[in-house]
Amino acid sequence: MTTESSARTIMERCDILGSFSEEPDRLTRRFATPAMRQANETVAGWMRAAGMSVRQDPIGNLIGRYEADSTDTINRGPTTILPGSHLDSVLDAGKYDGPLGVLTALACVERLHERQQHLPFAIEVFGFADEEGLRYHTAYLGSKVVAGIFDPNALHLVDSDGISMAEAIRTFGGDPSAIPGAKRRSDDLLGYCEVHIEQGPVLESLNLPVGVVSTITGQNRISVSFVGEAGHAGTVPMSMRHDSLCAAAEFILAVETLARNQPGLVATVGQITAQPGASNVIPGVVTLSLDVRHQDDAMREQACHRLEEQARQIATARQVSLKWQHLQESRTVPCATHLTQLLAQAIETLKYPVHTLSSGAGHDGVALSDLTSVAMLFVRCRGGVSHNPAESVTREDVAVAIEVLEQFLMLLAKEQGES
Ligand code: HGY
Ligand code: MN
Ligand code: MN
Repeated sequence: MTTESSARTIMERCDILGSFSEEPDRLTRRFATPAMRQANETVAGWMRAAGMSVRQDPIGNLIGRYEADSTDTINRGPTTILPGSHLDSVLDAGKYDGPLGVLTALACVERLHERQQHLPFAIEVFGFADEEGLRYHTAYLGSKVVAGIFDPNALHLVDSDGISMAEAIRTFGGDPSAIPGAKRRSDDLLGYCEVHIEQGPVLESLNLPVGVVSTITGQNRISVSFVGEAGHAGTVPMSMRHDSLCAAAEFILAVETLARNQPGLVATVGQITAQPGASNVIPGVVTLSLDVRHQDDAMREQACHRLEEQARQIATARQVSLKWQHLQESRTVPCATHLTQLLAQAIETLKYPVHTLSSGAGHDGVALSDLTSVAMLFVRCRGGVSHNPAESVTREDVAVAIEVLEQFLMLLAKEQGES
């Protein structure tokens, strides 16, 4: 199998997974839904055909294991590498954010299997069940379980249909009570290595197919509600209104202004609901999502405080009340020096220039960094577009990503042989 044909297979498989959606005309694959089951079952079939034993853990992560060389009896300590990514998606998603990393790891195993080759360590390919947090607004759910940092209180969260996370997990065939036992032991791990589309324009601007990630930017997700008073749109004078949507509008622009004026800060309001939500009713309650990110954790925390202060001032001036609820916070995570150097060496071996860049997007490596060393390889994507159905990568770049990951595994194997 040439890398070109492996890359072609990955592109075809991304198309297949892209058709597993909760919605007929666009790709939306939330945690523990029938669409996710289709994705897990399909990838599981590909994993089995590649000589892997496959299981689904209690939260629904898909794990395919390709054993180490059994003739290799030297006791070397850590014995397993975890490559992978996630199989859930955002709303109206592209086909590559997540699946590309799972399928590139799988392609490397397929190629080993074809050669009947095993390495001095086992390879466990992970397809995480929920990285985006679309259904319960809790990102890295799957990898948190593996890292042993899952908060059991999250089981009581309900989705937009009123289904609790515990119920969704059970319906999916998982077991909420077994989640604590799904924590992976760290003492046999060599690390986690994820291939992912860049989701930004840097590699394209440098005309490079791949790049090595230095850090994954920290982020906060906050739920903000302005609670005013619903009323008649025709009868309540403007001076007597407690319009929560006007307060929210002022706040959204304050978010933009702060982020525009602070280098390195990005802040987004991506979701908003106004209740009761009728054209002739003054909005009573408005809830919006706030996503705040900065490479520097102190700057990010400061920005969150500043925004909370501003939201309070706006609420007070408009005589509405404010609910500020932290949903999630993650610090900036540096990728592990050693694994990152191996990725760089792999790129050099293939005669490509090595470019190192930070990730503004969050990834499962954030949660897994609590468990083991993490590294990431970015693949150029067209126009830097992501979280959008127009997401696009080329087969040629995917072929390079396969070669780099394969070479990374070989370098790791060589190192293990020498240790
Ligand atoms: O929101 C994010 O950074 C992501 O794509 N999970
Ligand atoms: Mn994403
Ligand atoms: Mn992703």
